[in-house]
Amino acid sequence: NAHRIAVIAGDGIGKEVVPEGLRVLEAVASRCGCSFRFDHFDFASCDYYLQHGAMMPADWKAQIGGHDAIFFGAVGWPATVPDHVSLWGSLIQFRREFDQYVNLRPVKLMPGVPSPLANRKPGDIDFYVVRENTEGEYSSIGGRIFPDTDREVVVQETVMTRIGVDRILKYAFDLAQRRDRKHVTSATKSNGISITMPYWDERVEAMAALYPEIRCDKYHIDILAAHFVQHPDWFDVVVASNLFGDILSDLGPACTGTIGIAPAGNINPERRFPSLFEPVHGSAPDIAGQGIANPIGQIWSAALMLDHLGEPRAAALVLDAIEAVLARPEYRTRDLGGTASTEDCGKAVVDALMAG
Ligand code: NAI
Ligand code: MG
Repeated sequence: NAHRIAVIAGDGIGKEVVPEGLRVLEAVASRCGCSFRFDHFDFASCDYYLQHGAMMPADWKAQIGGHDAIFFGAVGWPATVPDHVSLWGSLIQFRREFDQYVNLRPVKLMPGVPSPLANRKPGDIDFYVVRENTEGEYSSIGGRIFPDTDREVVVQETVMTRIGVDRILKYAFDLAQRRDRKHVTSATKSNGISITMPYWDERVEAMAALYPEIRCDKYHIDILAAHFVQHPDWFDVVVASNLFGDILSDLGPACTGTIGIAPAGNINPERRFPSLFEPVHGSAPDIAGQGIANPIGQIWSAALMLDHLGEPRAAALVLDAIEAVLARPEYRTRDLGGTASTEDCGKAVVDALMAG
């Protein structure tokens, strides 16, 4: 039976890279004997907003809530719709309403992608950042009193729930369990943040006790950020609260090169709701419409989606094909110093996949 995928290309280069992701998914389906049903939706885009005065129809949840996953391009076109309107009217709604409490980002150094870190080669860096995506520092509890006076006071609370902390930790430990190195690193700051972060540490210890075969360590966020740059080879699965994870999930991919290849998953692991897979980059108005965007971030997102859908063999084939293509200068797009078009690169991944 087919995986039902809601496809939302969105704006700008989303419309150019999503078709390459679909091309690769079709190819891997024929290789692996899995199958997909793609349903395309035009909402969650600024074009839709200009026609309808809203980013999405009122019944958007009913339209895509029954799908197995959402394959998403990028949203935003600041020339016509302000970014906070387009983002809050679409992606943020998906994350909240579909309880996508895991934000997952692989950090992997690929062949042919220059790393800003000296003396690093493919194989040296290969880990995941697991970010809590629903609570923590990003709560709306707080307020401001005496505004615009010299007595002004501003407060914003961090909220950690046992359910919220335990479920993100469980996801991280389960992920590490499936990997060779079986190692979890927790980001903390319990020396300075004296109530919530000691609680986080406590829950990490409790979870670690349930996974005796997994090595678990922790670092304060400041030195952890330094270690990302100086010792990226130390990590396997790094788990963090919403704020710390936000920072690490940009820092990690930055250590391994261009934004054009970085993928992300917004995941509801229990599959009560669809999870969403998207490249890290946005709609790139500066290069949109030219057919030169790098489609690897979108294609890698397809591999993350395949993992989530329970197709690990297909996911591994896609990842191998990406590595094979990045190793070949003639298939690199402009952001990687090449001259290949978006389509050239996507087709090369398909060729590598069928040959592999
Ligand atoms: P951006 O990621 O769209 O672009 C930043 C820079 O990276 C640009 O110079 C762009 O040309 C380059 N770039 C991005 N993706 C590329 C690719 N695949 N191949 C080659 N070069 C690539 O970020 P920016 O410019 O800050 O935002 C543009 C719009 O995208 C805004 O409306 C923003 O809100 C939205 N956005 C949406 C995201 C999403 O849908 N998840 C994430 C980030 C931004
Ligand atoms: Mg961020």
